[in-house]
Amino acid sequence: MDKELNHKIFKHIAEVAGKIQQETYVIGGFVRDLYLKRPSKDIDIVTLGSGIELAENVASTLKPRPKVTVFKNFGTAQFKYRNYEVEFVGARKESYSHDSRKPVVENGTLEDDQNRRDFTINALALGLNEYNFGQLVDPFNGLNDLENKIIRTPLDPSITFSDDPLRMMRAIRFSTQLGFEIETKTLQAVARNKERIKIVSAERIADEINKIMMAPLPSVGFKLLEETGLLEIIFPELQKMKGIDVVNGTGHKDNFYHTLEVLDRISPNTDNLWLRWSALLHDIAKPATKKFVDGQGWTFHAHNFVGAKMIPKIFRRLKLPLNEKMKYVQKMVVLHMRPIVLSEEEVTDSAVRRLLFEAGDNIDDLMTLCEADITSKNSQKVKRYMKNFKIVRRKLKEIEEKDAVRNFQPPVSGELIMEVFGISPSREVGLIKDAIKDAILDGEIRNNYKEAYSFMLKKAHELGLTPKVRD
Ligand code: CTP
Repeated sequence: MDKELNHKIFKHIAEVAGKIQQETYVIGGFVRDLYLKRPSKDIDIVTLGSGIELAENVASTLKPRPKVTVFKNFGTAQFKYRNYEVEFVGARKESYSHDSRKPVVENGTLEDDQNRRDFTINALALGLNEYNFGQLVDPFNGLNDLENKIIRTPLDPSITFSDDPLRMMRAIRFSTQLGFEIETKTLQAVARNKERIKIVSAERIADEINKIMMAPLPSVGFKLLEETGLLEIIFPELQKMKGIDVVNGTGHKDNFYHTLEVLDRISPNTDNLWLRWSALLHDIAKPATKKFVDGQGWTFHAHNFVGAKMIPKIFRRLKLPLNEKMKYVQKMVVLHMRPIVLSEEEVTDSAVRRLLFEAGDNIDDLMTLCEADITSKNSQKVKRYMKNFKIVRRKLKEIEEKDAVRNFQPPVSGELIMEVFGISPSREVGLIKDAIKDAILDGEIRNNYKEAYSFMLKKAHELGLTPKVRD
């Protein structure tokens, strides 16, 4: 099945390639996505000759002329054209030395180039020459694999994976993103070669994890990572969550599968990668805090706080951001049980106010996480929780409208307290400020200057302070 290459850029490339008599093809992800009808912005062009020269020549025929970026070491060049990122490379025959990813590169044929690609569905090429424009070149039956939804390597999988071990994760990632099955032989080779993932950089690994996370059903990928043994190497904390301990005939739930269920449940409700990360990590400290207590059963005391403390090490190792994104995940993990606890008791205004105060603008995300966290098989129980969460959400709205504590700013500042009582920064200033905050959150006073000021006078009096300045 050949393809119409409608976009003008392909005609341009074909014309220029014809002039300099260089056989040229569009190849890889763009072709795959064309058949899958997925939008794609990256166009990879392979040519039998210099990719850099072809890129320069094509760019000079375009108006406005795009700026070409050349990577001499890799023999590639690219430019941005409209919404597209177009990359040119000379066809290569590559073999990798076994202790690094640095390839030994030689010029090759189209077939050589296709041989060294990761999967049959990523090795499809469409001709960009006068005699084969839009014609499919598919030596490994990749089109069949696309139709049958199969991930398979063009060569023996051990060779393909040892050329670039990240491909083991790419197989799992494509399977998760596209809903494709990994061919048995290919999957077995992942398990056999798993140790080689250790030579891949953390950034590339994290990139694949993030892509798995953003798929519609991320659990597919994490289960495959676990089954092949990759998870234990790249993410031991998650691996540790798998399994059930039994004491006196009582087992706890398998926290690995529970976590994956939460991740799948949150995915239709958010495209925020970091909220999805919060779902993945919300119970990460359950193995570390697990304890069987007679009369109580299994407990995971303070697993939310311990979990939040584990996050910087995980993020550092995976080279994930250590900025406010990580802090957001930590906050979600710390607070993840609060709405559930709240909904189990009578939902008091004061508890809702405190939750609003702590979660701030992240309150909706926190509720989304908590709703996803209800994975009980007992449908009555699920119904009850969901009903209670509705009440919590309604109360959150009511109280926010009334008291505006979401982004709490103290109505009486520390400076004012010091001025009124003529004191310098001290323990008393903090005590008064905290007491005002607590009184507002507990609903004793309203969140405004007047009530806070009177309360300050009362509290200060208790502490033996007298105002130096009259209001
Ligand atoms: N490729 C490969 N081995 C890799 C990475 C890439 O063989 N480790 C080849 C594949 O032919 C792939 C092409 O290079 O189709 C482009 O790679 P990339 O842009 O990373 O992936 P895409 O397939 O385009 O998919 P995505 O954009 O979703 O990552």
